Order: sequence, then structure tokens, then C-alpha cells
Amino acid sequence: MDVLVLGATGSLGRSVSAELGQRGHRVRAASRRVRPTTEGQPSWVRVDLSTGAGLGRAVEGVDAAIDAANVRSARRAALDAVLVDGTRRVLEACQAAGGIHYVGISIVGIDQVPYAYYRAKLRQERVIESGPAPWSLLRATQFHDLIDQLFRAAARLPVLALPTAVRIQPVDVADVARRLADAAERPAGGRLPEVGGPRVQTLGELAEEWTRARRLSKRVVRLPLPGRIGGPLTAGALCTPDNAVDGRSFKQWLAAGPR
Ligand SMILES: NC(=O)c1ccc[n+]([C@@H]2O[C@H](COP(=O)([O-])OP(=O)(O)OC[C@H]3O[C@@H](n4cnc5c(N)ncnc54)[C@H](OP(=O)(O)O)[C@@H]3O)[C@@H](O)[C@H]2O)c1
Repeated sequence: MDVLVLGATGSLGRSVSAELGQRGHRVRAASRRVRPTTEGQPSWVRVDLSTGAGLGRAVEGVDAAIDAANVRSARRAALDAVLVDGTRRVLEACQAAGGIHYVGISIVGIDQVPYAYYRAKLRQERVIESGPAPWSLLRATQFHDLIDQLFRAAARLPVLALPTAVRIQPVDVADVARRLADAAERPAGGRLPEVGGPRVQTLGELAEEWTRARRLSKRVVRLPLPGRIGGPLTAGALCTPDNAVDGRSFKQWLAAGPR
């Protein structure tokens, strides 16, 4: 198969491109920056989802488009430009190119947590569900590398100040990439069963694992969260224990080597 991967330079995009390559599919990798294409590597196309530039050519002749693009911003306009309006442009391009299967990714529990980024993801989900192209949509929990980035940022202070009671179920991005590749190989499936990591843990437990693995002697201290966000996060709103994969835990991911 020929598969377009949007956001191919990102955490999920790199993993899904590698997974598709291992399965023998031809990957067309999209980024805002042009990259040289060498034999055996994905072929690169330049796409900017915030304007739609390059999209028409990018979807030409592919069997499916996996959308792993993302924006890390608290600003609604920046989030919507890519996640909402950008997604709409992709769906329209998929339909105009003959009804190409759009495979999207979202996050478990976003309807329960009033957080600007999650609201944008909900708007993106609605665009996918009501869009013109055949679609599949997978909700996943937080990737191990996101938790690692969170702890790295917190570690700039003398103590690790974190909302320690928050319950999450971090997942190896490779497990999510496999599900997306499976989805791309099948006909459009609408909402797919969610995917979460092997264990539900508190952020405090994960921080202890992280400091031990990184050989840091930082003390972990509890940071209070406002109730309307803290309540659902502490109750495990972002977890999906019935959909736990038998994959690498955060601790195993940390043990696999320095990143
Ligand atoms: N991270 C998590 O824990 C997690 C968990 C569940 C679901 N998800 C979902 O998974 C998806 C990918 O997340 P990620 O963490 O892997 O993202 P990421 O590492 O932040 O990568 C973002 C990607 O988006 C591309 N991008 C940004 N703006 C763009 C634009 N205007 N036009 C085209 N491409 C653009 C970037 O490519 P260039 O900069 O090269 O253009 C990059 O490849 C998101 O939908 C996210 O909500 C993430």
C-alpha cells in the first residue's frame, strides 16, 4: 500500500512511518520542511496544514492518510489552524482524490477534562466524524515520551513539583503506531477500540520511577490542581484500563536506554 503520514517528523509520525515501512508499505512522509529522499527511505512531501499548501499533491495516489500532525500551544487559533481547520482540509483533499481512507488519532477521556488542548482535540474529532471522507479514529493514552518531557521540564526546579495524584496509563508510541497501521490496512472503521498502556499509575509513582532511572535525587512534591481539572484527572479520566495493551511499561521504556 501507499500511505501518506502527516506529521511524519513527530513522535507518533516517526513511529508509524517505521511500522509501515517494516510491513512493506510505501510511506509518503509529510512535513513543513523539505527533506532529501534517498532510496529505501520514505519519500518526503512538503505540506502545511495551516494553509493546505501541498495537500492536493500529497494525497494523490495513496490508499490511506494517517494524520499524526500536532500543535503544542495553549492558543485556540494556533490549535485550530492545524487540528481543526487543517484536519478539515485533509478530509476534503482525501475525498477529492477519490475517497481516501483518513486515519486519525485522538486522546482517551478528553471529553471529561476542560483543558484548551483537549477541547481542540474534541473539535477535531467532530470534524473527522462529520467530514466527507471515509475515516477511522483511534483514541490513545499519553505516550511515554510525553511523560518524560513533562518530568524534564519539572526538573528545571530544585524539587519535582507535580500533581502527584493524577492517574495516567502511559503507552509506548510503537503500540499506538501498530494500531494505526492496522487501521490503515483495513477499510474505514469509524471509532476504533481505545488503546492504553499496560498499567494505570499515579504521576507520583511515575516520577519516582523516572528519578531512579535518571539517577536524580530530586524530591517529588505535590502540586495542587484546580478541582475542575484535578478532579477528573485524579479519578482516572484519561485512563482506559479495559483497553490496556500488553506492551512496554514506562519503567521498561526508561530501562531501554537514554533518550
Ligand atoms: N503525545 C502524546 O502523548 C499523545 C497521546 C495521544 C494522542 N496523541 C496525538 O497524536 C498526534 C501526534 O502527536 P505527537 O506528540 O506525536 O506530535 P509531535 O511530536 O508534536 O509532532 C507534531 C507533528 O506535526 C507536524 N506539524 C505541526 N504543524 C504542522 C503544520 N502546520 N502542517 C503540517 N504539519 C505540521 C510537525 O511536522 P513539521 O514540524 O516537520 O512540519 C510534526 O511532525 C496528535 O494528534 C496528538 O493529539 C498524542
